[in-house]
Amino acid sequence: MSGPDLRRAAAARALDLVEPGMRLGLGTGSTAAAFVDLLGERVRAGLDVVGVPTSEATHAAARKAGIRLATLEDLPQLDLTIDGADEVDSDLRLIKGGGAALLREKIVACASRRMVVIADATKHVATLGAFPLPIEVNAFGLAATRIGVAAAIERAGCAGAVALREAPDGSVLVTDGGHRILDARLGRIPDPERLSALLWAVPGVVEHGLFLGIATAAILAEARDGRAEITVIGSLA
Ligand code: 5RP
Repeated sequence: MSGPDLRRAAAARALDLVEPGMRLGLGTGSTAAAFVDLLGERVRAGLDVVGVPTSEATHAAARKAGIRLATLEDLPQLDLTIDGADEVDSDLRLIKGGGAALLREKIVACASRRMVVIADATKHVATLGAFPLPIEVNAFGLAATRIGVAAAIERAGCAGAVALREAPDGSVLVTDGGHRILDARLGRIPDPERLSALLWAVPGVVEHGLFLGIATAAILAEARDGRAEITVIGSLA
C-alpha cells in the first residue's frame, strides 16, 4: 500500500460522513485533494452538496470535479470540513499549513460544526513539533515580526530556527492572502496552547498552524496485511 493509497482510503472513509444537502469545507493538500476527487465522483452521480474551498488550488480542483462552490460570505456556517494535517496528536491538536493554506483552513474549519482530519497514520505523533510550525505573517515589517516570533518561541519554552518559506522556484512564497510564511523548526512543542497565545500576541502574525480544540475527529489510514486499516481518534458523529 502506497502513501497515495492510504490517503485515498482515509478520504473514502470521510466520504461516508457526507449527506445530501451538506455545506462542506474543502481542505487543501494531497489528502484533501483525494477527498475532493472522490466527492466529485459522488456529485456527478447525483449527490447535492455545496463546498467552500480553503485555497485557490482546492477551488480549481473542486470546480473541475463538478462540485458546486460557495464562499463563507454566502454560507458563513458549515456542517462539516474535511482536511488533511501535517501532524495530529492524540488530543486532536494539529499542525497544519505545510501547503501554505493555514489561514483559510482555520477560518473554514472554525466556521464548521465538525472538522474531520484525514491522513495517513504517519501523521499521528505523541508530541507536536517535528514538522516545522508554519506561521503566516504580514509582509509589512517582516524583519521585526520575525524577531517577535523568535521571542515568543523562546518564552513558550521552545527553541529552533525560523526560516522564511520559499516557493519551489526559489522566490519568497506568497500565500493566497498575500502574506508570507515563517517555518519554525522546533522539534517538539511541550505546551502548544501557550505557544499559540504568545504567537497571536505578536503584531504582524496573521495566523499560525497550531489548530487547537478545532478538529472533532481524525481518520488515520495505515497499511496492514496489504490493505488499509482505519483508526479513528475522536467522534465521527
Ligand atoms: C495545507 C495543509 C495540509 O492539510 C497539510 O499540509 C497536509 O497535506 P498532505 O495531505 O498533502 O500531506 O495544512 O496548508
